[in-house]
Amino acid sequence: MKSKIFSAFIFILAAIIGMAFVNPDQQTKPWPVPDKYKKMENPVKFNKSAASALWTKHCKSCHGKEGMGDGPKAAQLDTPSGDFTTSAFQKQSDGSLFYKTIEGRDDMPGFKKKIPDDEDIWQLVHYMRTFK
Ligand code: HEC
Repeated sequence: MKSKIFSAFIFILAAIIGMAFVNPDQQTKPWPVPDKYKKMENPVKFNKSAASALWTKHCKSCHGKEGMGDGPKAAQLDTPSGDFTTSAFQKQSDGSLFYKTIEGRDDMPGFKKKIPDDEDIWQLVHYMRTFK
């Protein structure tokens, strides 16, 4: 009897340890955004052709044409770049998307230097809203 309980215990333990390593949907870790940014609203008027040109030049290689995370560089990334058509992505504030774009994290490059004009970043924020 005792050994049965023991085996059950080992089995459950192994299952728990196993789950820690297998992460089927590769949930990315939370990415906190400072309050100052969270509350920002997009101050520029959407210029779709300008925004689309910026997206193609700087973002499409990883995030894909339609923000599905399926660009040609996606396979080389350690962290998935995410699916921008999901409500989890779209419910973030404009300022959060702005912050993440300028700061970057891990495989996501920060674009503060490459795209120095804030207005261009805001155009990209508008553009990311078209992926739904
Ligand atoms: C070299 C590949 C690469 C390029 C180029 C790239 N990204 Fe990313 N991006 C990523 C990865 C990987 C993540 C996920 C990072 C993480 O969660 O740690 C990400 C995450 C993001 C996020 C946050 C997603 C979320 O779920 O909150 C935003 C916003 C974003 N990228 C915007 C952009 C924009 C705008 C551009 C172009 C100016 C761009 N990215 C260019 C790889 C890239």
